[in-house]
Amino acid sequence: MKEMKAKKSMPWSNKDGAKVIFVYVINLIILSLIFLAGVAVRANRFDAFKEFLAHPQDFLSFAILVLLSIGFMAVYFLFEDRDFLHSPINSQMLFLIIELALIACFVFQNYVSQFSMPIALVALLTLFLSDTRKSSFVNVIFSFLLLVFSAYLNLAGGSEMFSLNLIYLYLMTFSSGIVATYLMSNVYSRSKLLVRSLVVSIPCVLCVCLSAITTTGMNFVKELIASACSGPLAVAIFIVFLPIFEGLFKKVSCFKFAELTDHNSKLIKKMIEQAPGTFNHAIIVSNIAEACATAIGEDALLARTCAYYHDIGKLRRPEFFKENQSDVNLHDDLTPELSANIIRSHAQDGYNLLIKNRISEKVANVCLEHHGTTPMLFFYDKAKKFTDGEVDINQFCYAGPKPQTKIAAIMMIADSAEAATRTLTDRSAENVTQVVRSIVNDRMKLGQFEECDITLKELNIIIGTTINTLTGVYHSRVEYPKVTLEGIEIQN
Ligand SMILES: [Fe+2]
Ligand SMILES: [Fe+2]
Repeated sequence: MKEMKAKKSMPWSNKDGAKVIFVYVINLIILSLIFLAGVAVRANRFDAFKEFLAHPQDFLSFAILVLLSIGFMAVYFLFEDRDFLHSPINSQMLFLIIELALIACFVFQNYVSQFSMPIALVALLTLFLSDTRKSSFVNVIFSFLLLVFSAYLNLAGGSEMFSLNLIYLYLMTFSSGIVATYLMSNVYSRSKLLVRSLVVSIPCVLCVCLSAITTTGMNFVKELIASACSGPLAVAIFIVFLPIFEGLFKKVSCFKFAELTDHNSKLIKKMIEQAPGTFNHAIIVSNIAEACATAIGEDALLARTCAYYHDIGKLRRPEFFKENQSDVNLHDDLTPELSANIIRSHAQDGYNLLIKNRISEKVANVCLEHHGTTPMLFFYDKAKKFTDGEVDINQFCYAGPKPQTKIAAIMMIADSAEAATRTLTDRSAENVTQVVRSIVNDRMKLGQFEECDITLKELNIIIGTTINTLTGVYHSRVEYPKVTLEGIEIQN
């Protein structure tokens, strides 16, 4: 196995490129319309609006600057994250975030104060709907766009196009966004977000202090209060709009993941009632997967959610799976081929169920891939006992695909390790270690990790973490002595 496989990019067609260009052109028009609406409000009088529009060179230079900044965004994604750019939905989501933030900033700038603008909104929404890297980059683009919008709106309003205030605006937009990106990246509770939002306001507060030194006639106390509200305001708007964006663009934020792993969520509740054995297995797998994801720097909450739902397909026929059976094994009356078909289908059934319930495509894919193309040796062996001829192993293999991501690879290891450890009569650390190592070795021999970019170093970390978690779950206890209390003999 290679130490590290190069990340594959999705192949592009002319149609894909045309769709992305279409999204960029449409949004250039939308941004221009937002600007014109801003000009209409700022110019106040119809004459002033007409006067601004009478100078098409102003509007043209504005449009060129906007085109340059969004063009830079496209080029960045083309070289840095082609797969993200490949989906027009992703680009549209970023544009909608920027447009929402521009409108919100304009409203607060116009009716309250420049320093109260919810400038961290772009960074927050991009961070929770995408990742830290994109949040930082989109914040840079937004800072520039807000600067351009404000400068041209000053012009339309009849005041100086460039002023010291614009420098403060750029400084605070850029710094608040960066602070929000790095301060909120591991926050999963709304109350913590609100508390930390006060830190996001600090660049705005500093800019008010700077402005007070350089500007005369400024209402310092009012501006100071306004600037302190900037961060909490951004968080409040973010909390309102995040579920809307999640629904519109089928994205899943950490808040949604937390909801999905709640024991009262629809499918989990169904699993607890109809497949309690599978649910208990999923809980232990989730502990292993979360620890492994944290250890190799992957998304722990995503790993946890995937673990909860990886066997959800068993809900279709829970009684055919060992963990939900008591005394009767329904496979005793079936041919090994039929048994293998039933067991194999739980990965596809789970995928279909998760997609149907709009859980998350990432979680559904992990569910489909968690057994890869591994063989069901128990039924293969049973089939061999029933026949004198050769048995086709392919009839007893899972349909795949093999794990495509590190999280799917973690799930494959955690799932098999938990199931195998459960069958051990002696769950000592030595036995657990041996089982986990042989599971990973077997899957490597079967080429199950060939299609994801996991490294040997990461596999070793996952092995160690899985062993630690499993020995923690199945630790041995001292046998309690029998004690007689007031004539009653008790032991536990
Ligand atoms: Fe499974
Ligand atoms: Fe499982």
